[in-house]
Parts: sequence; structure tokens; C-alpha cells
Amino acid sequence: MNLLLKFIFLFLITELSKIDCWETRSCGTNPSCEFKQTFLSQITAQKFPKHCSTICGFLIIQKTDLNAEELTGLFKNIRILVGGLQIVGTKLENLKFLAGLRRFVQDNRYGFSSERFKITYNPELRELGLLNLTTIKSRSLYIANNEKLEKLNLPKLEVAKCLRNNCTIRVSIKTNASKFCITLKELNAFTKKRNKCDLNIDSGICIPENEPRVCTVPTEGCERLIGDLNITKGFDVRKVESLKRLYGTLNITNTDFTDFRFLGNLTRIVRLGYKTALVVVGNKLLRNMEFPKLRRIDSEIRRFAHFADNSEASHADFKSCYALRKAALQKGGLWQQFGDGRSCEQIEFPPTR
Ligand SMILES: *[C@@H]1O[C@H](CO)[C@@H](O)[C@H](O)[C@H]1NC(C)=O
Ligand SMILES: *[C@@H]1O[C@H](CO)[C@@H](O)[C@H](O)[C@H]1NC(C)=O
Ligand SMILES: *[C@@H]1O[C@H](CO)[C@@H](O)[C@H](O)[C@H]1NC(C)=O
Ligand SMILES: *[C@@H]1O[C@H](CO)[C@@H](O)[C@H](O)[C@H]1NC(C)=O
Ligand SMILES: *[C@@H]1O[C@H](CO)[C@@H](O)[C@H](O)[C@H]1NC(C)=O
Ligand SMILES: *[C@@H]1O[C@H](CO)[C@@H](O)[C@H](O)[C@H]1NC(C)=O
Repeated sequence: MNLLLKFIFLFLITELSKIDCWETRSCGTNPSCEFKQTFLSQITAQKFPKHCSTICGFLIIQKTDLNAEELTGLFKNIRILVGGLQIVGTKLENLKFLAGLRRFVQDNRYGFSSERFKITYNPELRELGLLNLTTIKSRSLYIANNEKLEKLNLPKLEVAKCLRNNCTIRVSIKTNASKFCITLKELNAFTKKRNKCDLNIDSGICIPENEPRVCTVPTEGCERLIGDLNITKGFDVRKVESLKRLYGTLNITNTDFTDFRFLGNLTRIVRLGYKTALVVVGNKLLRNMEFPKLRRIDSEIRRFAHFADNSEASHADFKSCYALRKAALQKGGLWQQFGDGRSCEQIEFPPTR
């Protein structure tokens, strides 16, 4: 009986895991929906499978002679794209011709480049405007050097994730348009809990209007703070007791706190840019360095935390060291070192002289 249950369970797991592959499989069985020409132009457009809702192939739209209207006509039925997509060096102002696209799924059978989802060097591009896109499954996501880009405008994006466990998504949104910002919803899709994204987002975060639980300075009742949080002697802890997510650096310097229980609701720190996510310096009365609910730290750098000049007791707290390292490790596996340069192992087993 036990064995039978096990068998059924295994069967279900196998079947469920196939759902992910389902889209990529449909490609092999429906060759009329493949686009083999790769580069999209007036000439190759004649072979574009424009009646298919799922299209398979590596699509490259580069310095194309097709205008936005012609592209809209070609793509009006497309819901799912399996393969790759590159839009490079065009004069397009947005990608709304792809507004019907719901899912993008990378497939290595098509194309030659490892950059599966790439939108670069489009000097007139103001926004992507993929209004119905909910899911991106790709090894890489690369959006860069679009000088005038102001926003992504991916309002329905729920998840951008890896196809396999062992891979990273590189979300690289480098642009010198000072106006550019990424929304909290888009950022959440890129940093989903199970996602092992290697983040590289060179951008500010859009400040939402009329969101009472979002703030830019510490405020009582605020749950998501966009900006750095500096905590020094005399800080009014009531302002952060309800804080759940911090989008910036947490800097606790020269305080008299004995523990961090006042940050008991904080579950996550997301630090964009090449900056330390967590700074704890000169807290002489600290008994430990535990953050009760902090389970994830998204940082772009290896040394995500810096601990120095605190009490001896807190610096010997290897348990919290492991917990913090685990919180950061969920993403990549790059972060071996902790705080003041010592690893958690070195704190647990100090080298004997
Ligand atoms: C986006 O999806 C909505 C509903 O899901 C649909 O009404 C709309 O036509 C879609 N947009 C495009 C451009 O296909
Ligand atoms: C962006 O930077 C490039 C290179 O530094 C420069 O040539 C270009 O004018 C800049 N664009 C804008 C919109 O500032
Ligand atoms: C993950 O991929 C890298 C390079 O592709 C490889 O070196 C490494 O062994 C892989 N790790 C696992 C656990 O499969
Ligand atoms: C936090 O402290 C740093 C260093 O003193 C300072 O540059 C920054 O402006 C402060 N940020 C806030 C939000 O107070
Ligand atoms: C942290 O705060 C202290 C005191 O406000 C400041 O001197 C220091 O520069 C800050 N560090 C960072 C990385 O913001
Ligand atoms: C967490 O937030 C809730 C609701 O805002 C509050 O009642 C509770 O005291 C907070 N916990 C801590 C440790 O501050």
C-alpha cells in the first residue's frame, strides 16, 4: 500500500514537471508554426507563421525594413513564443506589436546566441509595453543601452524564471535615461522566492502614488520602504516595527540596541546597484545579530553584509551568520564570505594559533 502511494506520488510529480516542457514539445509536433528564417524583414515575413498562436523559432528584429504597423499585423495572433527574441538597433518607440504575447519560453533548439531575450540599442524606444506578458522563462534577460527608455511597462508580469535549476537570469537594465525606473511589481517578478536570479539592475525604483503602506522615509505603519534605512542612536523604533520589505541598504550604526527584535516583521532586503545590503557597525551592547524573520537578501555583490566593531558576543554569533548567508545564498551561491571578511565557519571554529 505504502509503495503504491509512493508510486502514484512519483507519477504525479513526473506529470506535473512535464507541464513546463509542454510548450517546447508542441514545437516539434507542429512544424508549420516554426519560423526558420531568424531575421525578420519584408522578404522573410512572407514565411512568418502569422496564423499560429504559438510560434517556435529564434526571432531577430534588427535594423528591419518592417515598420510598427506591419509588425503588428504579423504578430496579432501570437500568444506564446518558444525559442528566442532579439530586438536590436531598430527605430521602434515601443514593442506594442507584441502586446498579445503572454509567455516567452527559451528553447535551445532554435538559434545560436546565448542571449535569448535581448532588447538593446534601440535609440527611440520609450517603453517595452508588453501589456499581456505574464511569464518569461529564460536563461538570460538582457535589456540595455536603449537611451530613451523610461519604463518597462510589463503590467501583468508575474514571473521571470529559469528553465532549469542550475542557471541564472541576468536582468540588466542599464540605461542613461535618468527618468527610468522599475516598478515594485516588475521587480517582484524578477526576484520571486524560488528564482535564482543573478540580478544586475542599474535603475531606480518607481515611487507608487496612493499606496499607504509604501514609504520613502521610515513611517509608522509602513510595510515597504523604498530608500536606505539609517538607524543610529535615539532612533524611534516604532517607525520600522511594521516594516516587511526594504528596498535599499539597512545601516545600523553606533546604537545602544541589544537585539534587532524591533525589526521583527522584516522578511526581505532588496538592494539594487553595486552596494552593501546590510551594515551593522559600532553596536557595543548587541547580544546577537539575529534578524527574526529575515529570510532573503537580494544583493548584487558578493559581500552583501558588513559587520564591524560590535560587541564580542554578536561577532561570535555564528548561527545568525549562517542564517544571513542562507538568506542571500538562495539566489546564486556566490556569497561565501560574510561581514568582516570571516566566513561563518571561521566564526564557528576560530583558527587556533
Ligand atoms: C490582452 O489580454 C486581454 C485580456 O486577457 C485582451 O482583452 C486583450 O485584447 C489583449 N491584448 C492584446 C493586444 O492582445
Ligand atoms: C547616453 O549616453 C551616451 C554615451 O555616454 C550618449 O552619447 C547619449 O547622448 C546619452 N543619451 C541620453 C539620452 O542622455
Ligand atoms: C551548473 O552549471 C555550471 C556551468 O554550466 C557547472 O560548472 C556546474 O557543475 C553546474 N552545477 C550543478 C550542480 O549542476
Ligand atoms: C544614510 O546615511 C548615509 C551616510 O551617512 C547618507 O549618505 C544617506 O543620505 C542616508 N540616507 C537616508 C535616507 O537618510
Ligand atoms: C552608515 O551610517 C553611518 C552613520 O550614520 C555612516 O557614517 C556610514 O557612512 C553609513 N554607511 C553606509 C554604507 O551608508
Ligand atoms: C509586526 O507588525 C504587526 C502589525 O503591524 C504588529 O502588531 C507587530 O507588533 C509587529 N511586530 C514587531 C516585532 O514589531
